Amino acid sequence: MKNTVTTFLKAKQNGEKLTMLTAYDYSTAKLIDESGVNSILVGDSLGNVMLGYEDTISVTMEDMIHHGAAVARGVKNALVVIDMPFMSYQSSIYDAVVNAGRLMKEGRANAVKLEGGAEVCPQIEAITKAGIPVVAHIGFTPQSVNAFGGNRVQGKSAESAQKLIEDAKAVQNAGAFAVVLECVPSKLASVITQKLDIPTIGIGAGNGCDGQVLVYQDMLGMFSDFRPKFVKHFANVGEMMRTAFRAYCDEVQAGTFPAKEHEYTIDDDVIEKLY
Ligand code: KIV
Repeated sequence: MKNTVTTFLKAKQNGEKLTMLTAYDYSTAKLIDESGVNSILVGDSLGNVMLGYEDTISVTMEDMIHHGAAVARGVKNALVVIDMPFMSYQSSIYDAVVNAGRLMKEGRANAVKLEGGAEVCPQIEAITKAGIPVVAHIGFTPQSVNAFGGNRVQGKSAESAQKLIEDAKAVQNAGAFAVVLECVPSKLASVITQKLDIPTIGIGAGNGCDGQVLVYQDMLGMFSDFRPKFVKHFANVGEMMRTAFRAYCDEVQAGTFPAKEHEYTIDDDVIEKLY
């Protein structure tokens, strides 16, 4: 069954947990979709884990469309959400609607995600009025890494915690159908979750959220540049890949790969006629 915006809202009403994982390519998206996940996020984290940037600032609309369309081709049932990259929506409401439209038309998204609270509500309102579902993202918002000045966990003081509650209500009122809470103390994330009618999707925001999202390379142990506290390795695929790559090199060097079963044949009389 295809997951839709309605699936998200029903899950919130019924107290059922929502699952979301990132993907950036066709083959991985297909595997993740087959797991029964509710949603696949083509995150701008692709700047880190696919393109090797130290942050998400340099990610372009073309990057998001290229990876988003590949993911969409691999997905049958998950709701595909594509991130709006840095400066594709902050600059103006017009840019926000045009770029959200491109992610739907060219990237084949089912919804878009953008970072920020009250300050981006005019954009959320305009995009949703254009018929495009929006996931909001508050707490630590990686596109603002330079403005945060190094603090990852958000909402620890009474003032900043209250601001996060106001931001969460504002994005809901602007029309977002879900909100990602990143690096928010778990008790505060639970308070926000209880105050909203739309589901909260946590990453580093504890168990009280309505759903969870992780970057797939993080949860598979494939990315080692940095490891936030909230990451759990559900498998050690990075080590499995290293072992397989080493075995391949060893077998090629030893002449044991390719073996007979990997070869194509030709009749000997054809070979004999060659000069
Ligand atoms: O870009 C991304 O992968 C994200 C998730 C971490 C929520 O925004």
